[in-house]
Amino acid sequence: MIFDLQHQHAERAYTLLASLVCPRPIAWVTTLHPNGSINAAPFSFFNVIGDEPPMVIFCPGNREDGSPKDSALHCAEQGEFVVNLVDLSLADAMVQTSQSLPSGVSELEHFHIATEPSQSVAVPRIAATPAALECRVHDIQEIGGNRLVIGLVQRLFVRDDLIDPATERLRTDLYHPIGRMAVPDWYCHTNVQFEIKRPR
Ligand SMILES: Cc1cc2nc3c(=O)[nH]c(=O)nc-3n(C[C@H](O)[C@H](O)[C@H](O)COP(=O)(O)O)c2cc1C
Repeated sequence: MIFDLQHQHAERAYTLLASLVCPRPIAWVTTLHPNGSINAAPFSFFNVIGDEPPMVIFCPGNREDGSPKDSALHCAEQGEFVVNLVDLSLADAMVQTSQSLPSGVSELEHFHIATEPSQSVAVPRIAATPAALECRVHDIQEIGGNRLVIGLVQRLFVRDDLIDPATERLRTDLYHPIGRMAVPDWYCHTNVQFEIKRPR
């Protein structure tokens, strides 16, 4: 089948694209409200897009009335955010925080999720995250009903046990982020992996 996402099947774009282009990594984004409360929300329109400089992007869609989601608003106001990566132990809590609470009410306080201070930005990370990317906003672009938040990663937190002290590499046998699968509510494990050597 062919779907015309610009015209006839435009209504189906989200369901089809989000179910086909998967698994997607999940950014559990923390930001600061001007009142100092910590906002948290998951975004699976997310990825790392470069390493020189280290860059990430996440894309909050606008609300139905065209207003930005809190995460986008705080990024524009404060210029900082933290991407907390999500493993199975955090999956339920991450999904809970996608609930829309009134602006200025912290999802983390509401759901009793502990935080730790970051080093290079004022926005804290989620204490139990396996890894966190401390970011400064490089640019925010609006395309239709989407806001593309591009961040430059300042510092990277990785839980001690996930770094092999001998090689200083990530222990990929221990790090299993979850992936976002088909709309609306499917996820995958990443603990079954395989290797294919690249030709040199
Ligand atoms: C796993 C998951 C991934 C999500 N990804 C996105 C996304 O990429 N873009 C988006 O606009 N909303 C996404 N959402 C919904 C937001 O998390 C939700 O709208 C949230 O309330 C936004 O919070 P905020 O207003 O505090 O930014 C996702 C929800 C879940 C559970």
